[in-house]
Amino acid sequence: MTAPLTLAQMANEVLTTADGAAKAALSRRHAAAWFAARKQDPCAIEIGTANPPLHPARPEKPELLNPRDVPKRKPGSEAGRIALLHAVAHIELNAVDLHWDIIARFSHVALPMGFFDDWVKAADEESKHFGLMCDCLESLGSYYGALPAHRGMWQAAEDTVEDLMGRLAVVPMVLEARGLDVTPGMIKIFRQAKLTQAVEALEVIYAEEVSHVAYGSKWFYFLCGRDNLDPKEVFHSLVRTYFRSTLKPPFNEEKRADAGIPPDFYWPLADQIKPIAGV
Ligand SMILES: [Fe+2]
Ligand SMILES: [Fe+2]
Repeated sequence: MTAPLTLAQMANEVLTTADGAAKAALSRRHAAAWFAARKQDPCAIEIGTANPPLHPARPEKPELLNPRDVPKRKPGSEAGRIALLHAVAHIELNAVDLHWDIIARFSHVALPMGFFDDWVKAADEESKHFGLMCDCLESLGSYYGALPAHRGMWQAAEDTVEDLMGRLAVVPMVLEARGLDVTPGMIKIFRQAKLTQAVEALEVIYAEEVSHVAYGSKWFYFLCGRDNLDPKEVFHSLVRTYFRSTLKPPFNEEKRADAGIPPDFYWPLADQIKPIAGV
């Protein structure tokens, strides 16, 4: 009988699966197996350790371009809406890998089981989000891979391969928090175009992304507390070290607050001065 996979091995399997649909399906299967086992016996699946690839396997298409070379399309056109959904599908597929990567990459760090539960759940949801975006693309006569996509998305993972706090600061607390800022505007675009399927899919994504940002801030605070560090100071220093840009307002202050990120975390890193309340 072959030994059951450890969680880190499951993560590695997802990371080394190239096809998008196959990666998302395997991710969902492993997440279901993890939660089913956890229900029976909290320690039924070992965390284990893994040696994840620096870059996850990816499908042959889409072609990956530098951000400045990705053609910009007007969101008011059909082609623009397809490009927007394609860009979100690409973000979701990257997010599947990002959440499994944090599990595999930092499996050797002593952490409560809840840390792994949270990222398995987030990875499962990203896999669902990728499927929702693929379905929307198909109903508009397109598919994931039909357009070029952004190459830079894995940079944050690569820059923080040895720094769990840096990873939490930059991936969930900066990049995924940015998703909370921009998703309402996207929902508006699809609502105006009367594309109900896309509106509903983006509303699912918007609701579930709050918890991914919250997992990030929760474990960031946990690690700061364990080492007696000031979370705000450490956050500013890590984002300045690993994030290659300033943060762009307007911020979704309400959803960021829901996710445990107060304004004095992000405003000092913004490319604008915080407006004075009431002015
Ligand atoms: Fe997502
Ligand atoms: Fe997410």
